[in-house]
Amino acid sequence: MTVVTNFCKIANLQMKIEQNISLKSFNTFGIDVLAKEFARFSNADELAELLTTNHKPPTTNFILGGGSNILLTKDYDGLAMKNEVKGIQVVNEDAHHIDVRVGAGENWHQFVMHCIQHNWAGVENLSLIPGNVGASPMQNIGAYGAEIKDVFYSLEAYSYTDKKVCTFTLNDCEFGYRESVFKRKYKNQFVILNVTYRLNKQPKFNTSYGAIEQELEKMGVKELSIQAISQAVINIRSSKLPDPKVIGNAGSFFKNPEISNAQFSILNAQFPGIVGYNLPNGNIKLAAGWLIEQCGWKGYRKGDAGCHTQQALVLVNYGAAKGSDIYNLSEEILQSVKEKFGVNLEREVNII
Ligand code: FAD
Ligand code: EPU
Repeated sequence: MTVVTNFCKIANLQMKIEQNISLKSFNTFGIDVLAKEFARFSNADELAELLTTNHKPPTTNFILGGGSNILLTKDYDGLAMKNEVKGIQVVNEDAHHIDVRVGAGENWHQFVMHCIQHNWAGVENLSLIPGNVGASPMQNIGAYGAEIKDVFYSLEAYSYTDKKVCTFTLNDCEFGYRESVFKRKYKNQFVILNVTYRLNKQPKFNTSYGAIEQELEKMGVKELSIQAISQAVINIRSSKLPDPKVIGNAGSFFKNPEISNAQFSILNAQFPGIVGYNLPNGNIKLAAGWLIEQCGWKGYRKGDAGCHTQQALVLVNYGAAKGSDIYNLSEEILQSVKEKFGVNLEREVNII
């Protein structure tokens, strides 16, 4: 973490705090719980004002982005704050790059489409990921051979403890696979207000993820472009992932686990179809969807909680499931994978 950029003004902004608000429409699982208090903010001063008015410790505050990576397991006994910081602004430019500063409350996919329209390359493989810009560095979102860390330049975040806005550079964020400092050592300590991405004027096409090549061929694409890659990714994603508007879900519920090469050899001998990918550190990343499917969960349904019929890594709410129903199902899955393969799955979705 580097420079403190500014102190927030407390200017009697008279922020509206609502009581007992249903969060059903604020999470893509469609779980119906109440937030004791609910408020929206659109800049750092409003956030500071909210926290001053509220006087509660950070552990009783919770930031809502698009709600596409959370599982709400009970009524929230604190203040849920919807981040509505907006704006897309070019802040720097040279012959090769363009730095774009984006409000945390902007929709991620709409931002990707904005980049495609302007021919700014680097985020096309990340098309159609639900949620907002603010969570993209939290999670180091990734898909189809790309991750946010590849285009990340810096971010500004409000510190609950110092009550100041701080700047984080790429190194400060300690990005890993679906990981950053904001999920670990600085958990519940910062609110991300905006993110600056460094995009490329000359595209470096990335079709390393096999399914993209196949889809481009199917689309009859003769000349590669970021538009074509984006459309290919949109097509693949639409064909296999459930649309949260139709069936509640939060994408992959678990991470793909990493194991040693030695453990992989043992498992491979026992389960010849096991799916794993080589990692640069010599370890193997297993396809958790395969492990879960092999345990017989794919298409399983108990009440309104289920394991998706086409992607076993995605848990779904068919309508009236409670967060605890989904959580309990995830616990059963986790245990059966441990029993059959001796592999520990880790939840990717944030449990609230
Ligand atoms: P939320 O769910 O609102 O929040 C997630 C967490 O971050 C919460 O703990 C929240 O408190 C915290 N948070 C949110 N905003 C801020 C902020 N501004 N400051 C501090 N904390 C904050 N993810 C991938 O990486 N790759 C995929 O391919 C992918 N596919 C998906 C497909 C589907 C159908 C769905 C439903 C989800 C998918 N996801 C995927 C998961 C999800 O879209 C991402 O994790 C996304 O970045 C979450 O954004 P959000 O705004 O909805 O975050
Ligand atoms: N598989 C099965 N059965 C299943 C699902 C998957 O056997 O039911 C096996 C198949 O062999 C398949 C392999 O798993 O080839 C990988 O599946 P897929 O390509 O669907 O990707 P994934 O590993 O399940 C990851 C990310 C997704 C991301 C895609 C594409 C994680 C936890 N998930 O899924 O991210 O979109 O790759 O890059 O890393 C998310 O984070 O929410 C998310 C959806």
